[in-house]
Amino acid sequence: MCGIFGYIGNDNAICRVISGLEKLEYRGYDSAGLAYVKQGEIKTIKSIGKVENLKISSCAISSKISIAHTRWATHGSATEKNCHPHTSENFAIVHNGIIENFEDLKRKLNYEFYSETDTEVVAKLLEEKYRECRKKFKVEDAVLHTIKETQDCLKGSWAIALICKLDPKKIYVFKNKSPIVVGIGKNESCVSSDINAIESDEFNFYNLEDGNIAVVKQDDVKFYDKNLNPAKLERIRQVQNKYFEDENFSHKMIKEINEIPFSIHQTAKIFDSDEFITLSKRFKKFKEITIIGCGTAYHAGLYGKYILEKYVGKKVDVVLASEYRYKTKIKSENELVIAISQSGETADTLAGVILAKESGATTVAITNVSSSSITRECNFTLLTNAGPERAVAATKSYVCQIYVLYLLACKIINKTPQRDLDRITEKFLKAFNGRFFEKYYSKQKFFFIGRLCDSSTAFEGALKLKEIAYVHSEGYPAGELKHGTLSLVDEKSLVVAILTQNIIKEKTLNAVHEVLARGADVILITQFHDIDFSGDIITLPNVCQEIAPLVSVIPLQLFSYHYAIAKGLNPDMPRHLAKSVTVE
Ligand code: G6P
Repeated sequence: MCGIFGYIGNDNAICRVISGLEKLEYRGYDSAGLAYVKQGEIKTIKSIGKVENLKISSCAISSKISIAHTRWATHGSATEKNCHPHTSENFAIVHNGIIENFEDLKRKLNYEFYSETDTEVVAKLLEEKYRECRKKFKVEDAVLHTIKETQDCLKGSWAIALICKLDPKKIYVFKNKSPIVVGIGKNESCVSSDINAIESDEFNFYNLEDGNIAVVKQDDVKFYDKNLNPAKLERIRQVQNKYFEDENFSHKMIKEINEIPFSIHQTAKIFDSDEFITLSKRFKKFKEITIIGCGTAYHAGLYGKYILEKYVGKKVDVVLASEYRYKTKIKSENELVIAISQSGETADTLAGVILAKESGATTVAITNVSSSSITRECNFTLLTNAGPERAVAATKSYVCQIYVLYLLACKIINKTPQRDLDRITEKFLKAFNGRFFEKYYSKQKFFFIGRLCDSSTAFEGALKLKEIAYVHSEGYPAGELKHGTLSLVDEKSLVVAILTQNIIKEKTLNAVHEVLARGADVILITQFHDIDFSGDIITLPNVCQEIAPLVSVIPLQLFSYHYAIAKGLNPDMPRHLAKSVTVE
């Protein structure tokens, strides 16, 4: 949800922030803008759409300092006026988050507003506070006090970078609940929503904590707590996780699907890690287990329930993080809360973790980003090691989340897990024709059905088709069809049935026959060879059925990708969505 990048140093800051924004575009891509200081004045350039447009309109400019933003609209549509940076007489700011009390603040401020955004209200509030502060303090102290007083008035979430025209050699940064990292190099410094957008191995990186203020100079940074006492921040030890482009693939999404085998290979290493062993040993003591997550991560959680209940014999609840955070929290002894999140930044999942901690639960993050906010909050982190994922649709990270849950369940019961899934998925990806589904593109209704862990794959298949190909589709537990949804099924429908579990073989096939009888076309995805079905079958490689969802989701990911391509859509940047949802 919005990417922030700032640069100060000897290079051309404009080029550097554009290059930073290009790497942050997965966080939002409806408009982009930047601010810089020229001859004592703040200048801004803004453009609608992708960062590419901003690049074109700013390529002739040069500056030593700039802050920039790529937007996912929350307050006010994607217009140039609403595009960040937002300004007041002395400040330009870029913001990631939501100021919940912006309307209240706006009413009290005696300014004219040019945009509909909550962010402009902060720019004007800063100005208001600055008028008083500059009478009492020198410039840097005046800005620091201005930020302190402004922060005290704000409610909601924010990571804000600002430049001040009277102090044009510094970027000020402050945050609450939204992530921001500061990188200090030799004669240059950056601020960024994501460490991986900063192109240098030689930087020292620092994650700001809530309430921290950073004063970032070309060669130095000073940190303060919310009362302006000097703060000492630990350097981040994590190395960056670079994203490598690959010209063999036309889109990130298909590249990332093809990285599944390697991601599985990397993730397998967790099995012998100390953290994994410690957690699995302690697992038996937990009386209650809850898994939380959003979107695709929630679907991985549903698989987690299946495998932990089946292997470990413990009752597991799976709750959408956006619901969990507002549920009546019943205090329980020995609760374990597992938060699944590719980015480790999803606001609802993070809030769920904080709530769980407050109620005394032990918390575990299953995440792909080792320096993320959720990682920092949780007692344990199980890293998925899928490598950076940039396409909005989670693909390889989902597969790795499932794999980690499977490995965890195996570890707890001392079972040897299936180890050759990298090789198996590689062979399957080579052999499977992604255009398999082409002849069904003209269907008007799409249903994905399955039972037990196949129902979580069904939910995921439907979600992928919605988000990438903009096709209305439903994921449904096969046994539930006849309780309502079957009335929608007719000859305009395609039903994709997933069948990987022996004990419900006949049951899922019953559902298949029921939809066939209503005129639907059916594709069966299964690893069983003894099924009497004359329609289209996608035969999965033979894997242990408890981990079959790791393979059965791949054709569904490819379905949505190829359908999107056939419709001329960009699967990497679906409309209205963003990869990292750091607002509620
Ligand atoms: C967004 C993304 C989804 C993702 C979800 C949760 O909606 O578009 O692909 O599944 O957020 O993200 P997380 O980073 O917490 O896994």
